[in-house]
Amino acid sequence: MKRLLTGLQPSGDLTIANYIGGIKMTQKYQDEYESFIFVPDMHSITVEQDSKTLHERIRKNVCLYLACGIDPNKNTIYIQSENLYHANLSWILECNTYFGEASRMTQFKDKSAKGKNFSVGLFTYPILMASDILLYDADLVPTGIDQKQHVELARDIAIRFNKKYGDTFTVPDSLIPKVGYKIMDLQDPTKKMSKSSENKKGTIFLLDDTSSVRKKIMSAVTDSENKIYYDVDKKPGISNLLTIYSSIKDISIDNAVNHFKDYNYGELKKEVAQVVIDKLTDIQNKYNEYINSSIVDEILDAGKNKVNEMAKKKYEDVIKKVGLGR
Ligand code: TRP
Repeated sequence: MKRLLTGLQPSGDLTIANYIGGIKMTQKYQDEYESFIFVPDMHSITVEQDSKTLHERIRKNVCLYLACGIDPNKNTIYIQSENLYHANLSWILECNTYFGEASRMTQFKDKSAKGKNFSVGLFTYPILMASDILLYDADLVPTGIDQKQHVELARDIAIRFNKKYGDTFTVPDSLIPKVGYKIMDLQDPTKKMSKSSENKKGTIFLLDDTSSVRKKIMSAVTDSENKIYYDVDKKPGISNLLTIYSSIKDISIDNAVNHFKDYNYGELKKEVAQVVIDKLTDIQNKYNEYINSSIVDEILDAGKNKVNEMAKKKYEDVIKKVGLGR
């Protein structure tokens, strides 16, 4: 069975874009692959975080994964910072990554262009991500398109390391879902819906209450044509609502378009809002059961123990090959 590994940064509260593009896909994969799902909390401190909020969000996110249908019996679930080998291996990989290669990461270029004071961690973070992946010999890494370049870097590092020191790491592939992987901001549908976006009106969070979900969808930016069809370039707002609807309903875009063909925009929004609300109510009910339960700690302890043991073996092999230690 191939091994799949993915993580969602706790840098903001989880959104329906994370659910549709990330968690829902992972849930589908859990029967096909041996799945590892973790909270990359160390990645989130590459930018400024409030420590109390971050700390609470880590547990919240785990509970949301579970509430969204990630089955702890089929997935290994853990928190990155609870396994010291991630950062240790990352250092060794940094020493096997070229500065020029790391400098080509477009996400770093975008993020660092936004302010003057960015951390060195923001620059080296794709190498920590490579470590997350290579430490467990993951075959497949499901991510959004924005992370594809980082997975390619992990591949390049693995290939280089294997060549230099002998076969050590599995060379990973990214897995990018075809449908519904990109949910756009409701206020600016040419921009990705982001958990860290400033305008919260364009983002639906998994823990949003019913009335704000309805308000956000009813005031989603569309166009003035008042005709419903799918065309991302000409009709980004309507196409986004169709994508949200079809992925939650598990139907094709064509079927969604067909369903709405005689609707006006107001009716379309009303029905999309209801489908989202029903889904979120279900997720929130389950979330409320998990958040105060010790089951979460049992799941995380089991994950922590398992990955520490696996990582220790890999790390010992690596340092021996590199010539470190006694
Ligand atoms: N960088 C990813 C993101 O921002 C999160 C992440 C960190 C990740 N390590 C990973 C994803 C390893 C997949 C595999 O979305």
